[in-house]
Amino acid sequence: MTQGELQATMHALVQKGKGILAADESGPTIAKRFKTISVESTEENRRAWRSLLLTTPGLGEFVSGIILHEETLDQATDDGTPLPQCAARQGIVAGIKVDAGKIPLAGAPGDEITQGLDGLAGRLAAYKRQGARFAKWRAVYNVSDTLPGRLALEANAEALARYAAICQEQGIVPIVEPEVLIDGDHTMARCAEVTEAALHEVFHALHRHRVVLEHMLLKPSMVVPGKTHAHQAAPAEVAVQTVRVLRRTVPAAVPSINFLSGGQTPEEATANLDAMNLLGLQPWQLSFSYGRALQEPALQAWKGQAAHARNSQDALLKRARLNGAACRGQYSAAMEAAD
Ligand code: 13P
Repeated sequence: MTQGELQATMHALVQKGKGILAADESGPTIAKRFKTISVESTEENRRAWRSLLLTTPGLGEFVSGIILHEETLDQATDDGTPLPQCAARQGIVAGIKVDAGKIPLAGAPGDEITQGLDGLAGRLAAYKRQGARFAKWRAVYNVSDTLPGRLALEANAEALARYAAICQEQGIVPIVEPEVLIDGDHTMARCAEVTEAALHEVFHALHRHRVVLEHMLLKPSMVVPGKTHAHQAAPAEVAVQTVRVLRRTVPAAVPSINFLSGGQTPEEATANLDAMNLLGLQPWQLSFSYGRALQEPALQAWKGQAAHARNSQDALLKRARLNGAACRGQYSAAMEAAD
């Protein structure tokens, strides 16, 4: 039963030309995003924003899944439709962020660990009753000459694998998200080295915890230079370096790799994904699971005002459509100017 359920969710999530919208920002993160448009992070404003995203006409053409915050599962649109139901109506699978955020890793200064495993099975069963079919857990790796250390690589891999195994036991598809942070002035080579080490450790742990690779999604960061590094990389370079690391570490049994945007601009995130899909056939589908890179232009168009909802939804749909094209290697910068 559980295997059939997981397979059905995978089938709905992994579709050519479609990706995932991450709309699961934590309290502090959504407050930071709203601050850029001078909107206060109240429950009502978060409900209004996430209703706007979920009711965007045509979103289901390019988006197969949406990652929600726990709070959103209980919220409804102005006309009283529960938000998970809005997703379902668009043919979009609802998912849920289940980690409880990161804290310093004891004994490893500078490194962090994600918490939230205690009571996870029970929480997942409740989320499932509310309509969630997949989940997300994010591990974070800070980069320097010495970070992340071995302890952080091993502890985060272990937590991701335990989370994924618990999800599958509950009939929930796990998104495994190891994020190598873009912050810092490190080189692209250093990012590649850390990403390879992190992914190697993650798949080793997934194997130990008997996670079925066919029933999970990987959500990694791309291989890029640190944000403040002097040399920024062109999409073709990002594509070659990222795919090389993935081919070395991610088994072919994983059906789809859905990247996070991690602080790239919307245009960069789309161009980089497109460049990867131009490299030819890979063992897995290469798609997106963007938060900022999908929401940012829509958020700036909205500015907290209902009168701007239509423009905001147009901006979201445009990014979704361009990323859908990037999944097929059919994006071009000229498409940014059109409409
Ligand atoms: P970004 O694409 O903004 O990095 O968000 C994706 C996400 O879900 C981070 O956990």
